[in-house]
Parts: sequence; C-alpha cells; structure tokens
Amino acid sequence: MSGQRVLFLGDIVGEPGRSAVTSTLPSLVERHAPDLVIANGENVAGGLGITPRTADKLFAAGIDVLTTGNHVYRHRDAYELLDKSNRIVRPANYLETNPGRGHTVIEKNGVRWGVVNLSGNVFMQAAHSPFHVINRVLGQLEDEADYVFVDFHAEATSEKVAMGWHLDGRALAVVGTHTHVPTADGRVLPGGTAFISDVGMTGARGGVIGVKKEQILERFMTQMPVKFDTATDDVWVMGVLVETAGNGLAKSFEQIMVPAEPG
Ligand SMILES: [Fe+2]
Ligand SMILES: [Fe+2]
Repeated sequence: MSGQRVLFLGDIVGEPGRSAVTSTLPSLVERHAPDLVIANGENVAGGLGITPRTADKLFAAGIDVLTTGNHVYRHRDAYELLDKSNRIVRPANYLETNPGRGHTVIEKNGVRWGVVNLSGNVFMQAAHSPFHVINRVLGQLEDEADYVFVDFHAEATSEKVAMGWHLDGRALAVVGTHTHVPTADGRVLPGGTAFISDVGMTGARGGVIGVKKEQILERFMTQMPVKFDTATDDVWVMGVLVETAGNGLAKSFEQIMVPAEPG
C-alpha cells in the first residue's frame, strides 16, 4: 500500500481562512489528488477556537479531519461536537477529562488513516508530556491504522524538531502548527517520516499571524490592551503534501503555499 497522498493545511484563521479553503481547495485537490485532507481548525471561529457551524463548513468544503490546539475550548458549543465527532481531534496530551479525543482513525478507500493531535509543553501548557503520550497513542494505533499523521501544535522549534526525531520511522508525518509562520526545514527524515517544524497558516499574510497589523503594532507601541480583529489582506493557503511509501512511512514531502483564489 503506497502512493497515497495526504494534504494538510495549516491553521485556518477566521473567515478569510475559511473562504480561502472554500475557494482554493478544489484546485489543490485537482492538482494533487489527495486521498486524505486534514487541516488545523483551532482558529476558524473569529480567529480563536472552533464552533459546530465553522467545522461543518470546512467538512463541506472537503476537509476529512480537523486538528486543533490551544484555542480548542474557546467556544462551549464545540464541546459536544468534540465529544461526538470522530473527524475532529484535540491535543492527546491534555487532561483525560477534557472534552474530545486526542486521536482518530478514518477509513477511506480501504486505507486506515490515524490522525493524532499533540500540544507542545515549551512556552505552552499541556497536562502531560507529548513525548510520553505519543508513545502510548502509537501503541494503541499499531493495529488500528495503516498510517499515522501527527499535528504537533507547539511554539518552540526545538521541541518540534525533537518530536520529529522522536517519531522518525514510527509515523507517516509529524507536522508543526501554531506559529502561523512556515519554516523551510520540511523533508522526509532518514527513518522515513515526513517532517516540518511549522506548516504556516491559511490566512492573511498582510497581518501579524492572522491579526490586523495596525492593532498588533498599537499593542507593541502602547503596551496597552487592544482589541484584535482578523486580518483580511493577502490571504494565502499554506500546507504540505505527503506521499506514502508503504510500511507506514513517507516517500515524498512537498510544501504548498499558494495565494487564495478569489471566492
Ligand atoms: Fe493557530
Ligand atoms: Fe495555537
């Protein structure tokens, strides 16, 4: 079983990000023919969190599985969705009592795709070490999934690079999210795991990691509280494409960065 492709999109930020997915995903699908589409949805609702309505819109646009991160619990009305849906995951190393699940398995065309979400612990807070929790999750998925795709939602590049090495040869891919800024270190590691420190975002490059640049600059200049709105200028879709090699590992890695098509 090889030659399948997974398309992963970085943090979709607010309405501009959602519209970019709706307008641009069809041509990405036509060009790359992915067998599975995953996206990080922690910023889809007004720039912070996710709601049932925004999640449904993304599923309708062609996304199979949504991963999340530190903003996942921002909206209470998402908790039931997180508990019920097997198409959305929250960090596996959060408290066991928190709403939702940390991993899922989606079967498509006879292939069982495991998708895991993890949170970093450097400059962020997670209940448990992602390095220990992923060992346990991979053990659980060993008989349940043909491929395991990991979204490591983390701040520090050192922690992300370390996770890449921790999982090299044990997962199809480890991709970083959360910083909204893409890194240039994407590749297939020697053990066969596709890795990148950060995928970037699906959102407005004309802001500061998704927020209007004037507001962020005012915050830095005045050091006073400022209301943040989602930026709308120069929206791009940022993601990665991973091709499978069989035996659970990756054959190729490609970074995808395209301007959003007009809606
Ligand atoms: Fe984010
Ligand atoms: Fe985040």
